[in-house]
Amino acid sequence: MIAQAAPQRRIARFRPEIDAALGEILSGSHYILGPAVERFEAAFAAHEGRSYGVGVGSGTDALALALRGLDVGPGDEVVTAALTFAGTAQAILQVGAVPRFAEVDPWTRCITPETVEAAITPRTAAIVPVHLFGHPSDMEGLTTLARRRGLVVVADCAQSHGARLGDRMLGSYGDAAAYSFYPTKNLGCVGDGGAVLTSDPTLDARLRSLREYGFSDGVRVSRALGFNSRLDAVQAAILTVLLPQLAEQNRHRRNLAASYRRGLAGLAGIGLPPDAEGAVYHQFAITHAARDDLATALGDRGIRTAVHYQPPLHHHPAFRSDGALPVTERLAANLLSLPIQPEVAEGHVAGIVAALAGICGR
Ligand SMILES: Cc1ncc(COP(=O)(O)O)c(C=O)c1O
Repeated sequence: MIAQAAPQRRIARFRPEIDAALGEILSGSHYILGPAVERFEAAFAAHEGRSYGVGVGSGTDALALALRGLDVGPGDEVVTAALTFAGTAQAILQVGAVPRFAEVDPWTRCITPETVEAAITPRTAAIVPVHLFGHPSDMEGLTTLARRRGLVVVADCAQSHGARLGDRMLGSYGDAAAYSFYPTKNLGCVGDGGAVLTSDPTLDARLRSLREYGFSDGVRVSRALGFNSRLDAVQAAILTVLLPQLAEQNRHRRNLAASYRRGLAGLAGIGLPPDAEGAVYHQFAITHAARDDLATALGDRGIRTAVHYQPPLHHHPAFRSDGALPVTERLAANLLSLPIQPEVAEGHVAGIVAALAGICGR
């Protein structure tokens, strides 16, 4: 059986370094926040081209705290994609705002300046672009639009650790970038974890206060609304071991994607994902009109796949909205994620391509 994801294999590969790092944490006295978290925050912010990093409890919390830190709240609307994980829109609800879903581009599968503009109303306060499957959204266009319309941008980078847009790190765009370190992410830990990156010292200070009961200046006095959403030292130590491996792992994903692309070109009914030099292929998601039958046929041949995301968010009871999103609907019905994590896909791409050729024909 070829798995779709197996984060335990990445942990196993770096187990000696991880064990040593965990040994230090367990013998120390800081299990939540503290020096190990500060080390990781600084290293990750620098890696993604930002000045400040704030480690929090999850990717959803990272989005919600970033929105809150930028004063997005009740009465506001936030434009985002419906073709994403529920956490993106849950974060918007959590701050008391309302998600408004913009259509995605059929090729990049991301929202665009044009589709966002069409979803803006007088209540719109923010844009949350999602770099779906590690493919960069048009951040030049989206940040230009946001400046023109007086909106803030919080990028959902949960699937785009280490991605680039041209020469620039993708995480350096927008007022804030929110990351998840869920175990299966390109950079993942062994529990829940997340981070907000920013270049704004005022936002950095607000986030540090928001994540810890509204405290500030090292004083345990609640000065404002606050939460308990802190990255812990165990996760930070593991992430610090894995961060230097991220570039190589992303290169590996790009090579696997290129092999898929060569092998799958011309197979009947299969649509290939967008290609971008700086993409990091969190998923390699093909399209097929009979997606569910294809997934079953691959499963029968021992190849596990995954569906991201069905139903799209505008059909979830929590986020229901009326606007028609035909491109999102079609993609949600047709997308199928093939194994792309180096730990599961290495050595198997040719076999998976052969299985697909056998099922689909040329
Ligand atoms: C695009 C996207 N946004 C948000 C999240 C939420 O992250 P978390 O599960 O860490 O809360 C995830 C991942 O799960 C995600 O893939």
